[in-house]
Amino acid sequence: MNRGRFDKWAGNYDESVSKGREGYPFEGYYEVLDRVRSFIDNVRGKKILDIGVGTGFLTYELYEEGAEIVGIDFSKEMIEKAKEKMPRGVFFLHDINEGIPDEICNMRFDFIVSSYAMHHVDDESKLNFITSAKEILREGGKIIIADVAFQTAEGLEKCKTKHMGDWDEKEYYIVAEKLCKELNKCGLQCDHLQISSCAGVLVVR
Ligand SMILES: C[S@@+](CC[C@H](N)C(=O)[O-])C[C@H]1O[C@@H](n2cnc3c(N)ncnc32)[C@H](O)[C@@H]1O
Repeated sequence: MNRGRFDKWAGNYDESVSKGREGYPFEGYYEVLDRVRSFIDNVRGKKILDIGVGTGFLTYELYEEGAEIVGIDFSKEMIEKAKEKMPRGVFFLHDINEGIPDEICNMRFDFIVSSYAMHHVDDESKLNFITSAKEILREGGKIIIADVAFQTAEGLEKCKTKHMGDWDEKEYYIVAEKLCKELNKCGLQCDHLQISSCAGVLVVR
């Protein structure tokens, strides 16, 4: 989906994701978001980077509990909504296909989180982005990614067959087995939790 469509979606994004979520692609949306937040304890003062922050659906609760939120997104309108909710947050307009923005290269984060954004970049860009993100993580920190994800390529194919009419060929869903293997080769530890028939949480350290 291009930037313009996200700009248009920003106005009613919260309303659209607040509706009941069943089946591909949003099955388990709330559970995966909760699972991401559950990794973050003693939230107050934690510095958290939200990749593809959108309107702040994932990190708003953490912001309210006292976390310091930095968000990046390539949609100006999405960032405007996030700023309304999190006025003390710091936001950068940036395309994640271009890696980590220069402005945050010298920052260090306790957690780097993302929900339903990484499927917009191809596997190579995902791998590059995650390995560079590790460089700006504090010692002991975690990268936690929630998205449409499958443990195996067979799992993805099964879901695709079931939802053939709705399947989006232009999105790049996580096949955890494959991505974790590549991340392991780069020296990163990776675990995947399958939460619903088409959503999972990847934890990288
Ligand atoms: C489905 S929304 C998810 C927003 C939020 N994380 C959530 O869970 O509600 C995807 C977000 O990723 C952003 N996005 C998509 N592709 C991107 C890219 N290449 N670089 C930066 N942001 C991107 C979109 O603008 C949008 O805000």
